[in-house]
Amino acid sequence: MPDIWKLVRENVKGITPYSPGKSSKEVMEELGITRVTKLASNENPLGPSPKAVEAMRAEIENVYIYPDPTWADLRAALGELHDFDPEGIIIGRGSDEIIHMLGTSLLNPGDEVIYSTPPFALYPFTATVMDCTHVKVPSTGPRGMDHDLDAMSAAITDKTKLIFVANPCNPTGTILTREQVDEFMARVPDHCMVAFDEAYFEYVQSPDYAETLQYARDGLLTITLRTFSKAYALAGLRIGYGFAHPDVARAVKLTCEPFNAGLISLVAAQASLGDPGQVKRAVDNNEAGKAYLYGEFDRMGLEYQPTEANFIFVEVGMDSKECFDQLMRRGVTVRTGDIFGFDEWIRVTIGTPDENQHFIAALGEVLGK
Ligand SMILES: Cc1ncc(COP(=O)(O)O)c(C=O)c1O
Repeated sequence: MPDIWKLVRENVKGITPYSPGKSSKEVMEELGITRVTKLASNENPLGPSPKAVEAMRAEIENVYIYPDPTWADLRAALGELHDFDPEGIIIGRGSDEIIHMLGTSLLNPGDEVIYSTPPFALYPFTATVMDCTHVKVPSTGPRGMDHDLDAMSAAITDKTKLIFVANPCNPTGTILTREQVDEFMARVPDHCMVAFDEAYFEYVQSPDYAETLQYARDGLLTITLRTFSKAYALAGLRIGYGFAHPDVARAVKLTCEPFNAGLISLVAAQASLGDPGQVKRAVDNNEAGKAYLYGEFDRMGLEYQPTEANFIFVEVGMDSKECFDQLMRRGVTVRTGDIFGFDEWIRVTIGTPDENQHFIAALGEVLGK
């Protein structure tokens, strides 16, 4: 067989494929159990809006038709909800696709991409795919879990083109305030684009949380990324969106594939916007679960990072991979912290009350607490 590796671009040879962890089906088959509590991917366990389900059913027979490549209806609905010019709204196959578009439309080999560590995996992935220089800025704060915006702005050079700011940050659940981001933006020069990744936006409770749409309205080079995967519970449909100035949106969309967002995804997303009660239920469930889990972690004497998202980063005081294995044997999956450089921490998604109790019972057994 001829050697395919001679054809592969040098810069992508070292990429390790994304590891999603074991699926619930795999865990059930491996352990011969019938129930898995999946708290590994920050999904919304309450599921989608009934309005979204109804809209998908109504559209199912039309899937022989290509979807609207301009996403006009969904952009209009998002524009109205967020008081934002629909011309500046981009729809992606998940916000992941828009992160990728930022790379393919803006980045040349050798450009510098700044992100905070530990990062969401797509930022280093995009920088590597585009053969860019990674500028990694370690997080700061008492646990090393807060973006260091001073250091990030100090890291900007003439070659910097793109800066990723996750707010809230995954895996830590920390946020940046309006004041912090305003100060940061005042230091970002005109040749840099800032991508605010707000995948967990709906869950944030802090009144100080940064408001980033205004930068795009004011004509700065920013994009604010949001998603239907989390609070809207449509992760399986792969649909996300971004807010930018119309000129910025036009540039980012240059490398967007036609018909990128599927017909069913578009109608489900739009119907979800018409059901604010669904998001409220998700947020209420999250708040109740958060309070319960904080209480249980306190009882067990475990340190955790207070979260503004739908997951909690918690220190288990043992190797996170070992903890993962032992939890999995008890039918619970979480994310290990070692992949983020925190060897004794795990990231657990806040589930339903039942799921949270299952997790706590399993964790209590594993840690002997
Ligand atoms: C910080 C962050 N950004 C972006 C995403 C991507 O979301 P999606 O592509 O499903 O919209 C995720 C998903 O987990 C995330 O945690």
